[in-house]
This record gives sequence, C-alpha cells and structure tokens, in this order.
Amino acid sequence: MCGIVGILGHAPATPRILESLKRLEYRGYDSAGIAVHDGGELIRRRAPGKLSALEEVLSENPLSGNTGIGHTRWATHGEPTEANAHPHMTDRVAIVHNGIIENFRPLKEELLKKGASFEGETDTEVVARLLTSYLDEGLAPKDAFQKTLSRLVGAFALCVLIKGEDDLMFGAREGSPLVVGLGEGENYLGSDAMALASLSSKLIYLEEGDWAELHHDSVQVFDAAGNAVERTVTISQVAATMVDKGNHRHFMQKEIFEQPTVVAQALGRYLDPNAGKVRMPHMPFELATVPKVTLVACGTSYYAAQVARYWIEKLARVPVEVDIASEFRYREPVYADGGLAIFISQSGETADTLAALRHAKAAGQHVAAIVNVMGSTMAREADLVLPIHAGAEIGVASTKAFTCQLSVLAALAVDLAAAKGQINEEQEAAFVQELETAPKLMAQVLHNDEAIEEIARSIAPARDVLFVGRGIHFPIAMEGALKLKEISYIHAEGYAAGELKHGPIALIDENVPVIGIAPKDDLIDKTVSNLQEIMARQGKVILLSDNAEEEAEGMFARLEMPSAGELVTPILYAIPVQLLAYYAAVEKGTDVDQPRNLAKSVTVE
Ligand code: M6R
Repeated sequence: MCGIVGILGHAPATPRILESLKRLEYRGYDSAGIAVHDGGELIRRRAPGKLSALEEVLSENPLSGNTGIGHTRWATHGEPTEANAHPHMTDRVAIVHNGIIENFRPLKEELLKKGASFEGETDTEVVARLLTSYLDEGLAPKDAFQKTLSRLVGAFALCVLIKGEDDLMFGAREGSPLVVGLGEGENYLGSDAMALASLSSKLIYLEEGDWAELHHDSVQVFDAAGNAVERTVTISQVAATMVDKGNHRHFMQKEIFEQPTVVAQALGRYLDPNAGKVRMPHMPFELATVPKVTLVACGTSYYAAQVARYWIEKLARVPVEVDIASEFRYREPVYADGGLAIFISQSGETADTLAALRHAKAAGQHVAAIVNVMGSTMAREADLVLPIHAGAEIGVASTKAFTCQLSVLAALAVDLAAAKGQINEEQEAAFVQELETAPKLMAQVLHNDEAIEEIARSIAPARDVLFVGRGIHFPIAMEGALKLKEISYIHAEGYAAGELKHGPIALIDENVPVIGIAPKDDLIDKTVSNLQEIMARQGKVILLSDNAEEEAEGMFARLEMPSAGELVTPILYAIPVQLLAYYAAVEKGTDVDQPRNLAKSVTVE
C-alpha cells in the first residue's frame, strides 16, 4: 500500500526522501512523487511507474529545499497516472495520503459548488482542496487542518505541507498507520519504522484519531478531540542499513532460503527442548479454560490459520473457527464466553484483520496477535502478542512469514493441548522434539532446489494449474495456488483432493498440471486415488511425497520429500510450492518481488 515520508530537515530533502521511499518499495506501488518547500514555494515532481522513473524526472528537473514529503502510491481511486500520483497540491498546500476517504464524493460536490476545480480523480485531492478552502477562509493552519480532519470519513494517514510555513508539517492517522520520527533539530513522518530507518530510531506511533504538529525543534501530538497528548517514544529495532538480497536474485528467493534459519529462530523462542516443554509468553488469561478458538487472517496468513485448525482440534480438542478477515465481522460471528480470538498477520497492519481484531476485543474475547512486525497496530492492540521472529519480509509474496507463523501456531497447539490435559508430559516432549527437526528437514527440501526448478519450467507455459491435498495439506494446496497466481500470473486453484470429482475435474486435460501434495499419512491412499482419476483424464500429475513406493508410472513428475511428523509436514511442503511459484515466475520474467497490482501491507478494506 501507499508509502509516506515527510522530512522537516536541515539538509537537502529530496535524496533523503528518495532513500526512504526505496525502503518502502516492498509495500507495492505504481507511481511516486515528492514535493518540497523551496524559497517560500511548494514544488513537486511526480511520475507513474517505479521510483527509477521519478529519479529520471528529478535528474532533468531537480528539486532543492530541506523540507519535503514523498509518496509511493498504490492506486485506489483513479489509474496510476502522473495526474493521480501524490503529492496533491493546490496553490497553498501539498498532501500525501495512504488510505481511502470514503465521503470524497459529497465533499467534492460541495467544493465544486464553491468554485474549486480538480486536476485528477483521486479522493486525496479533495483533502487538499478542502484544507485550502479553510485556509482561504482565513483559518490559521492548525485550525484549518483540524477542521479538515473533522470532515473526513474513512481510513487515512496524511502528511501535509503548507506554503510559506517552512517550519511546519502536519500528520494525521485514522485507520492507516503513521509514525513520527524524532531527530536533532529535525523531525519526520513515515508510514512505518522502515520508512524512517535511516533518519531516526526514536519513534512515536500515532494512535487512532491522533494528529501531529511538527516543527524543526518540537513535536506535539493531539487526540481526535484536539487535546494535546503524550505518546510513548519507542526505540525502533529496524536496522538503518538497507535490507539487501545478498547473493540471491530476488528477495523472495532469499526469504525462501532463509526459512530453516528463521524457523529455528522462531521455535527457539517458544520451545524448551531440554525440559521437553513449550514456553509461551505470560498470558493474561487462563489457557486451560478457553472454550473455543477463533482464527482470523487474510491471504497466506489465513492459510496458516487453516492449518492450525487441524492441529488445535486434533491435539487440544478445542473447537476452532477460521475466518477470512474481510468477511468475519459481517457474518455476525457468535463468540463463546471467555473465547480466544487469534489474529494472524505478517505486517500487523492489514485493515481487515485489524478491524476483525477490534470487533473481537469489543465483544470481550481474549485477543492474541501473531505478527512479524512488532511495532504494528495489531501488536499494540492485542492482549497477547506472539511474534514470529521471521525478520523483515520484503518480497510481496509471503514465504518465511508463513512457515514461521506455522511454527508458532504448532507450539501454541501443543501448549493448549497440554493446558487442557489432552496430552501428557511425555507426549508434549515428543511434539517438542518433532518440531525441533523442522529446520534440518527444511534445509533438505531446499537442497532439491534444482529438481523443483526443472518442474517449475515445465508448468510455466500452462494456463491453469491445480494444487490438491487432503486434511492438513489442503491449506498448503491453496497456499501453493495463491503463490503461483500472485507472482507468475498463472491461473491456479487449490482443492481438497476429494472434491475434484464434484466439479473441478471437468477442467482436466493434457495441458493442466496438477500438483498433488501427498505425504505418507493416513490419507495418502485416498489422495493417490484422486491423482489416478486425474491421470486417467490425461492430467499432468506432479507428486510431492515421501512415499518412495508410490507408483510413479503415468505421473508427469515426482519430487521426493523427507518424512516428518504431523506438526512438521505442512511446514516442509510449503517450501516446494513456494519454489515452484518462484521459478515459474522467473521463467515467465515477471516482477517477482513486486508483482503487478499487489501490495505488501494492505491497509484499506
Ligand atoms: O500482513 P498480512 O499477513 O496480514 O497480509 C495478509 C495478506 O495480504 C498476505 O498474506 C498476502 O496474501 C500475500 N501477498 C501472500 O503472499
């Protein structure tokens, strides 16, 4: 989603803003722009496309000035053209915005009636024109900004400069995150800690409804009612050095190969192998009395939730409901008294998941967040935070966050089972021992990289690809399909293997590769029967299995997997489906790390 940076500084702003915008590229965007205060004027440059296009514009028409705002835009209202790129400006203000102004149409009509004219189609321009109208009425900048905020409905983070006020910058947060960075005689605004990593490690995370008035030497935060408030200053852990790809061609590839290390790291925080116990952080509620678990997430995190349902129900015998966050609160869920609602999110900022978290909290559920980004809104609002310790994930396609989420969820399932008395100490120790094997087995799968690359090349020309699995591997099939769709743009679907014959089997012909996820477990025979049905219809079956005896005849390809227990197999089988998607995308020459239309952190509903 859109990235914001604002610098009220003492050194040329443009190169510093550009550097910060580069740190925000991972969020996904399709145009970019910068506006600066220069000699009492506000001047801007914008370009559709990547930051390199903006850099070209800037090399032809440079900007000077020490104070400025920058933006990477992920289009919501209006195409990614130069006219729709931010900053939006009038003769008095420059504004960058992340989010959606839901009431922009009535506001626009009101302003048009008053004689305002509009350049583009964005909702943001309405904010710029509204603020200008209040300044034109003679309101002081602070009053005009506060009055503007009071008229806006929707989700937004805003950063604003006012012409002639070169010691002033405003920021506001409502629904979309915004962070203030504190410097020496300089102050900053950014959409996350990453944006400010090279500028400041002293951060103030604005709370919902907060707005901030920044000067070179001071920052004042106000709440929605306009009362001056004190907010905690936190020290950011995000490293100032740019996260780089190392020897890898893409961040996604680097992140796939990091998985044995980060999963070991994550497990290390939750398991005590010497004692044979799971060690969860202190919980502000009694796990043993939890009557029901609700798991809510989006995208890949949702598939992690689906895997966790199998573990929790089987081991702890606690009923679990799993929901896609964007649907959750609209179906008016029935909560159990004292229930535990767990929200899973790499970014901790996904708007739908955050709204679901607030819904559960308001309903009195115990609320836990499983997140990667520790300063995120979900981490700050949950009663219990379980960090996944995956490290910064830059590729838009989530990979290492998924396997780290699974690792934390597996540990939680075992802990809940122990708390409920469903497993004894010996069984808990056996599960801990099993989980400890994950990093080594993951490394083994990664050694098979070349074989997976070869299979991926063969599926790259396909128009449709199906992934099938049963039980706990059904969500892995759906995750495989999501990965392939996202980065290679090949149409893919994940199905429960037994469901194919109820419709999707009509799609099968000699051009459709079907990836069968079939570890040697209680369900393998049934899954393989379903794969036989596909082969009987000329489907190109690619089997992922540890069952060496399985009949390979008639199969298009097979990938030998290591054997593992039920807590580890979903983590292991995530790797080949990630690599299949990665190599198919490389073969097709797509933009692997920033696939079209996608954003890393989805902060609009
Ligand atoms: O940050 P979150 O985990 O809340 O993000 C949820 C989804 O937007 C995310 O998993 C998305 O589906 C990824 N692009 C998947 O690769």
